[in-house]
Amino acid sequence: MRFASRMNRLGTESAFEVLAQARKLEATGKSVIHLEIGEPDFDTPSNIMEAAYAAMKSGATHYTPAAGLPQVREAIAASMARRGGVPVAADQVVVVPGSKNILHFALLSCVEDGDEVILPDPGYPVYRSLTDFVGAVARPIPLHEERGFGMDMDEFESLLSPRTRMVIINSPQNPTGGVIPAADLDRLAELAIKHDLLVLSDEIYSRICFGDLPRPIWSRPGMAERTIVLDGLSKTYAMCGWRLGYGVMPRELAKHMETLLINTSSCAAAFTQLAAIEALEAEASEISVQKMVSEFRRRRDTLVAGLNQIPGVSCLLPGASFYAFPNVRGTGLSSREMADRLLREAGVAVLAGEAFGDAGRGYIRLAYTAGLPDIQEALVRIARFVEAATPTAVL
Ligand SMILES: Cc1ncc(COP(=O)(O)O)c(C=O)c1O
Repeated sequence: MRFASRMNRLGTESAFEVLAQARKLEATGKSVIHLEIGEPDFDTPSNIMEAAYAAMKSGATHYTPAAGLPQVREAIAASMARRGGVPVAADQVVVVPGSKNILHFALLSCVEDGDEVILPDPGYPVYRSLTDFVGAVARPIPLHEERGFGMDMDEFESLLSPRTRMVIINSPQNPTGGVIPAADLDRLAELAIKHDLLVLSDEIYSRICFGDLPRPIWSRPGMAERTIVLDGLSKTYAMCGWRLGYGVMPRELAKHMETLLINTSSCAAAFTQLAAIEALEAEASEISVQKMVSEFRRRRDTLVAGLNQIPGVSCLLPGASFYAFPNVRGTGLSSREMADRLLREAGVAVLAGEAFGDAGRGYIRLAYTAGLPDIQEALVRIARFVEAATPTAVL
């Protein structure tokens, strides 16, 4: 078969590849601890499941308006208004079957061939992949470990050109767990207004945080009209398989996204949408989120303390998300070799930092989406592996 050349520009998410390799190894009888995939291991809270069953039983099994059921868009608008402390209208909300669609549709709607998109490095690989796919030019902005995986804002400013059209930010961040400080958001907002840029703010991890987050960028004056917020239920409510994402954006853009939905998936599943109201508004859902976050905190503390005991490995304490991103340069192994060998020799599935961009080289990503006993066992296996593989690593 002959394929369109654009397919050569489309990347992938190595988490899915590593998961497939890990499953193959498991099929041969090897024990593998899964720290590769960014998916909460908890069950979806039962009140949300009950809401979906009830919706199905009452006939919510048909198409909905492409941008989402009006009451669902209202509920999302209300929840976002609570987050930002500014008004958000239902017609600024677009509901999609998975939040990646918001990114894809934003690029398709707003970015021309050759326009430049600034994106975090290391960052969620789909940013780069879809930017390349639509024919735009990716301008990675390095994140620095010594800044808590933040940007150097002078370096950011030096990347701006007359072709810069969009800036993608992700706070809390995958893969580092970093959070963009308020002062950097202020400066970003200032620059976005000055240079007439769009900001795509990926806030999918905003509820999985262990302290207070700064006010979101779109709540600053002049920013709601140039920000596309990407969010969804996947991470917050352990609902990755439900495929329910959403975006909040200027109304004119929401209309374009609606047309793109009409031409692609038509709409998100009706009963999933109705369950989203329960997720966003019920007290029981909030209690479940708080329980999950405190369990993530316990795991984070154990994992990071354990990693920091291993010679040649050093790990910052992530302020949010469920990822740790240790620096493994001191082991003398490349991050790619370390990730490959950890899976094959030690039975611990992790991702090499370079899967998230060039600046991720020298790091590995561990998702603490496995229970504490697994995390403790993973630490034992990693320590044993590092000791055997790098006898000179004791620094
Ligand atoms: C930073 C980030 N954004 C977006 C997504 C996509 O989430 P979903 O398509 O499940 O809504 C992910 C999933 O891993 C992510 O890590």
